[in-house]
Amino acid sequence: MRKAMLELRNVCKTFNPGTINEKHALNGINLTLEEGDFVTVIGGNGAGKSTMLNAVAGVWPIDEGSILIDGIDVTGLPDYKRASLVGRVFQDPMTGTAATMQIEENMALAARRGLFRSPFRAGVSRKERAMFKERLKILNLGLEDRLTSKVGLLSGGQRQALTLLMATMQTPKVLLLDEHTAALDPRTAEKVLSATKTVVERDNLTTIMITHNMKDAIHYGNRLVMMNEGQVILDIKGEEKKKLTVEDLISKFAKASGEEFADDKTLLS
Ligand SMILES: Nc1ncnc2c1ncn2[C@@H]1O[C@H](COP(=O)(O)OP(=O)(O)O)[C@@H](O)[C@H]1O
Ligand SMILES: [Mg+2]
Repeated sequence: MRKAMLELRNVCKTFNPGTINEKHALNGINLTLEEGDFVTVIGGNGAGKSTMLNAVAGVWPIDEGSILIDGIDVTGLPDYKRASLVGRVFQDPMTGTAATMQIEENMALAARRGLFRSPFRAGVSRKERAMFKERLKILNLGLEDRLTSKVGLLSGGQRQALTLLMATMQTPKVLLLDEHTAALDPRTAEKVLSATKTVVERDNLTTIMITHNMKDAIHYGNRLVMMNEGQVILDIKGEEKKKLTVEDLISKFAKASGEEFADDKTLLS
């Protein structure tokens, strides 16, 4: 068996406890990812998907349970102390990169993050530039010829692809993708997804990818998890996952949750 790279053990998180807005977002969720697992996560709005990723990243303390990354108990660590273990890409293409800086300057920041030498040291070395070019080529977006372009000039898809490269520059223990292609047109989304697959496979990254697109959830990764009311209600791997259809998922959701998929967007995508 491969080693466990990420473990959520009985994780609970309640927002606004004891108030009228009380929300049990995570209800004792259990999930273990082995090294190299690429898990796609689906579930209706408010199922707790983003909350789960925030718990792993340490955005706030959890109420109960524990979280281990590569065997290290990080439950008590604030987000900045987990930052070197975790790479993240969010939905909004405007976050994750600095618009007023060049592509290579953005990449240099990511490459030097957490290093002893100041990340703001002026200039990009020839060696760094060659490495950035190699990585940009993987995207198939022609960005390798635009190293000194300001990131603000790029399209949303190009920026998401660059954010992905930056999030994985230092080979994180876990990569967390929260609907990172949801704001893109289908063609661009496909490019970013295929770049995601390439990078994940190249570095054998342990990855959680939330998506509202059931086809993408089926097509990408080696494992599919469905969430509902702050718990995992389905966990499908291997050959069984390869044979899945969107219709299967809809009926499995209905069975496991006792509800219909309420979210049109989920059904239509
Ligand atoms: N910071 C927060 N403060 C209060 N409630 C929150 C917060 N984050 C999430 N929630 C609530 O927790 C539930 C789960 O949210 P979320 O994890 O974002 O769902 P999903 O990503 O599956 O759509 C929702 O009811 C949401 O409103
Ligand atoms: Mg979400």
